[in-house]
Amino acid sequence: MSATAERLRSRLAGTPTIGVIGLGYVGLPLAVAFADSGARVIGVDLDPRRVAGVASGESFIEDVPTAALAALVHGGRLRASTEVSDLKEADAVVICVPTPLGKSKEPDISFIVGAADAVASIIRAGQLVVLESTTYPGTTQEVLRPRFEARGLTAGEDFFLAFSPERIDPGNKKWTLRDIPKVVGGLTPACRELVATLYARITPQVVPVSGPETAEMVKLFENTFRSVNIALVNEFAIMCRKLGISVWEVVAAAATKPFGFMPFWPGPGLGGHCLPSDPYYLSWKIRMEGYEPRFITFADEINRHMPAYVVQLVTEALNDRARAVRNSRVLVLGVAYKPNVADTRDSPALEIIEMLAAKGARVAYHDPHVPSITVNGIRYESVRAVRAGEHDVVLVLTAHDGYDWGAIVREAPLVIDTRNATGGFDTAANVIRL
Ligand SMILES: NC(=O)c1ccc[n+]([C@@H]2O[C@H](COP(=O)([O-])OP(=O)(O)OC[C@H]3O[C@@H](n4cnc5c(N)ncnc54)[C@H](O)[C@@H]3O)[C@@H](O)[C@H]2O)c1
Repeated sequence: MSATAERLRSRLAGTPTIGVIGLGYVGLPLAVAFADSGARVIGVDLDPRRVAGVASGESFIEDVPTAALAALVHGGRLRASTEVSDLKEADAVVICVPTPLGKSKEPDISFIVGAADAVASIIRAGQLVVLESTTYPGTTQEVLRPRFEARGLTAGEDFFLAFSPERIDPGNKKWTLRDIPKVVGGLTPACRELVATLYARITPQVVPVSGPETAEMVKLFENTFRSVNIALVNEFAIMCRKLGISVWEVVAAAATKPFGFMPFWPGPGLGGHCLPSDPYYLSWKIRMEGYEPRFITFADEINRHMPAYVVQLVTEALNDRARAVRNSRVLVLGVAYKPNVADTRDSPALEIIEMLAAKGARVAYHDPHVPSITVNGIRYESVRAVRAGEHDVVLVLTAHDGYDWGAIVREAPLVIDTRNATGGFDTAANVIRL
């Protein structure tokens, strides 16, 4: 290792200054973890509300308790800014900005480009830059590197560059950022060594791979694996229903096999910032190589059909009770895309509510984490209390903790449960499960 790399390594292992760009679901927990590890952390976000939130020690991400954030901010370990120029002195800069899809489902890497340009304006010799945003293989090498090298610095010699995918699962209490091994891919052996040193501060296991492209592909494989397996079990749910078999019972029994099987559960469709979008980053890239991916497309087709399938279940169940969807009172439970979080990005609940409303249903919703939503221009506010008996159908889309499923099953005339939240009430005739 060069003297520059050696110096940086000892700083990263000691008391470094770490910049985190993008203080969202990924960036804020990461900033807190680095600050907890003894580093001085400066978070940068374009959104002044997020910066103000950090400055006042007020958390806006469920996985970051306000008390923990406030202690770090008041102790001077963590601060936030809207100015990337505050990162001039940082030893490492970690980029955690969004990677959405464009209108034709092509990767929209404009946030990465914006952050990279901002870092390029302040980069200096002796810094490590890490990209954490999920993206297609080649981004670190093709988008970040030339922008930094245009400043007259050489990657691997003057500055160091790496990709490390974020694997957090918001709301998951068992597997937190600090328990999940971290895959790292550096541009050169020195970059790899340095990025491994950085993450060894906050994770028990760093998994170095041969380069940033491999690390980028690891993340896309993990998320495509989930998307394909969820599609498989969603299709099993459709097939089981036709055969009069409970898919929940099938998966639970199959999961007793101690090897060669991993349970995935069906649901009303994929949601969140990651699963519905990430595989498209790979499809786009691989099509440029003249290859048409099949699993990704097929899985997406099945998963995207699930909201319409749920609406069909509601329609048929009402029809069996001699009722129309029009004017039926439907109470949706849970509009976040997964339990115990407030994130409604790409949540299938939004599409389902839109379809039910279009059919003339009188839709209300309850979600303890989401006070209001706007669907197709219509604003809904979460009802204060779940009065299951006051609706024609209770539609369970996300099974947040805290619901009294026994009372819901007792009181509701009809429950349509896409999450097996009512699994303990097998004999209830008013319950229809996916
Ligand atoms: N949310 C998850 O569960 C999760 C899990 C693993 C990986 N990821 C990936 O991590 C990345 C970030 O996702 P997220 O959910 O944290 O997004 P987010 O929208 O919650 O947060 C991103 C933040 O970046 C800020 N930002 C955008 N451009 C900026 C710039 N140029 N400078 C400073 N700040 C900027 C935004 O204002 C926003 O606050 C995405 O690539 C995502 O796919 C997300």
